[in-house]
Amino acid sequence: MKQESHPSPESDIRVDRIEEGLRQSLFAKNIIFHKKIDSTNTLSKELAAQGAPEGTLVLADEQTAGRGRLDRQWHSPGGVNLYFSILLRPTFSTDQVFTLTMILALASVDAVKTVSSLDVVIKWPNDLYFNGKKIGGILTEFSVRDGKFEFAIVGLGLNVNWHPETDEPMLYVTTSIGNETGSWVSRETILMEILRVFEKYYEALHMGQGREIHEQWIRKAMFFGKQVEIVADDHIIVGKAQRLDTDGALIVLDKQGNEQKILYGDVSVREI
Ligand code: BTN
Repeated sequence: MKQESHPSPESDIRVDRIEEGLRQSLFAKNIIFHKKIDSTNTLSKELAAQGAPEGTLVLADEQTAGRGRLDRQWHSPGGVNLYFSILLRPTFSTDQVFTLTMILALASVDAVKTVSSLDVVIKWPNDLYFNGKKIGGILTEFSVRDGKFEFAIVGLGLNVNWHPETDEPMLYVTTSIGNETGSWVSRETILMEILRVFEKYYEALHMGQGREIHEQWIRKAMFFGKQVEIVADDHIIVGKAQRLDTDGALIVLDKQGNEQKILYGDVSVREI
């Protein structure tokens, strides 16, 4: 649905209201808001190295150097979208790092559904799509010391009230919640909903419920059981997206009937 741009009041993000709305949450204890910043992930990593506590939330109205996977730029205009990063210090095995991306994706899907009724789907490994158009993405970065997490940062860019057709051409076909519903959505409301759900999933992970989360993620993910084309640096693999390995790798059954394990580092994938 197309709709004229709504002016987004700057006051739709206010830290005091987020603190009040989240009350006892882990993510209400140390909220850092910047009107303009290079990248919330970059600042979070710096803060993590300086000893900032788990749960630190870095939020920006606008990013000048927002980053995505594969060194891509994340377009981050001011006043319209959500850009935030959460600093975590998980105590579970570092092998499970991909589950952090999974739970932020699941929390985003659930929150968008609650706030706007849209059914967003997850595209392995870290994208959020609506109706074939990219609506969000997650960037997870982490550091391991002595076999344990020193920190992990999960960053989300979610297109909320942005109207892509009024902006410069993008690498992907993109959309936003407001673009699809025709209604203006409060960034604060959706942020708080994402964080509430994320916290539940994060606790569940620490209680050993990784398997259930994995199953939920598969139910919300695109293209499992379908034919896909994986483009890596120097080769292309075509096959059926079979399942996800416990470490987050995609298992594809190739034309020769062999299972190929695709690590999410440097590949792009599309359904064919
Ligand atoms: C992707 O689609 O490849 C991931 C995009 C992640 C963008 C978010 S915006 C908030 C956080 N800060 C960044 O620089 N990147 C993430």
